Amino acid sequence: MTASVPHRDNDPSLLAPEYVRSLGRYVPGKPIGELAREFGLTARDIVKLASNENPRGPSPAVRAAIAAATDDVSRYPDGDGFELKAALSARYRVSPFQLVLGNGSNDVLELVTQAFLRPGDHAVYSQHAFVVYPLATQARGATGIEVPARDYGHDLPAMRAAITPQTRIVFVANPNNPTGTWIAPEPLRAFIASVPNDVLVVLDEAYNEYLEPAQHAESTAWIAEHPNLIVSRTFSKAYGLAALRVGYGIMDAKVADMLNRVRQPFNVNALAQAAAVAALADTGYVDESRALNSAGMRELMQGVRALGLAYVPSHANFLLIRVGNAARVYQRLLEQGVIVRPVAVYGLPEFLRVTVGLPAENRRFLAAVATALGG
Ligand SMILES: Cc1ncc(COP(=O)(O)O)c(C=O)c1O
Repeated sequence: MTASVPHRDNDPSLLAPEYVRSLGRYVPGKPIGELAREFGLTARDIVKLASNENPRGPSPAVRAAIAAATDDVSRYPDGDGFELKAALSARYRVSPFQLVLGNGSNDVLELVTQAFLRPGDHAVYSQHAFVVYPLATQARGATGIEVPARDYGHDLPAMRAAITPQTRIVFVANPNNPTGTWIAPEPLRAFIASVPNDVLVVLDEAYNEYLEPAQHAESTAWIAEHPNLIVSRTFSKAYGLAALRVGYGIMDAKVADMLNRVRQPFNVNALAQAAAVAALADTGYVDESRALNSAGMRELMQGVRALGLAYVPSHANFLLIRVGNAARVYQRLLEQGVIVRPVAVYGLPEFLRVTVGLPAENRRFLAAVATALGG
């Protein structure tokens, strides 16, 4: 008998395609429970500033909506997310057929690659951009084209020049994680207009709510003119719902139809849907969270400057700080019960990314980093 796939040493992992076997794994921020176990610390004494979550958590109205939704957990959720789509479509003045709900916006990014990338296709993204773009691209057997960054941000002319007839998707993170860099509406719009219409532009706006209102691009309105544009957003960050996993994409209805064909029928759970509907209505809470973030950002920038450290100016809820030997500083912070994010995997081995926390958390980080750097 001849096997079509090598199965040496009786290793079933060899049955997976090479592009899956060579995939890197996404390494998330260290969970609080894990650090508590490793260092014998008490969980409530640990400060986690590692995953760009809202340190306030969800609003009281959202907590009440989640509690009410627990009555129905024996039922499958609404697979079409009728109420959430109705709320989103009213807010963003798009048709419900233009919306795709995701198990986090990460799911939406995956769905785009699943629906549109074939082995051999190219996807273009920036150096130091969100790591899910290369991972999702490689998982489809497609080739990622990483374009060198400019001042830690996207070099849009270079990204445009990297588009070839093999390119199917261009990813743009605005603001970008982990650098916090931001592209103003006009150059962004000009870039989108310059991309050939047989290439999808995925505009990842996970941190959109942290921008000042005057900085907001009317990106969802651009879809009418550019049906190759997909805008993705999330409830994980400013809305404080990271654990529930809910995000969405806004796009041309024909593109949404393709994504909805490949997604799982019940990819967004019922608690997440109820929470997201309540969160979207609670605009005051998002405004307060943005204000708290701006104040915390100022405090962090001032504190790290006082320590003689450089950072990349950020438009999101985190700050990328150059600490030198980041692996060592990260360890020394862990020993003090402070979790931040190493970003060597992003090609930034001298930096740590720190999420803006509550005022006391920011001060705890600043004190801990001073200790970590000394001696
Ligand atoms: C730029 C960017 N896009 C997307 C995501 C995915 O977030 P979620 O799946 O929680 O919506 C993240 C999370 O860190 C992010 O930083």
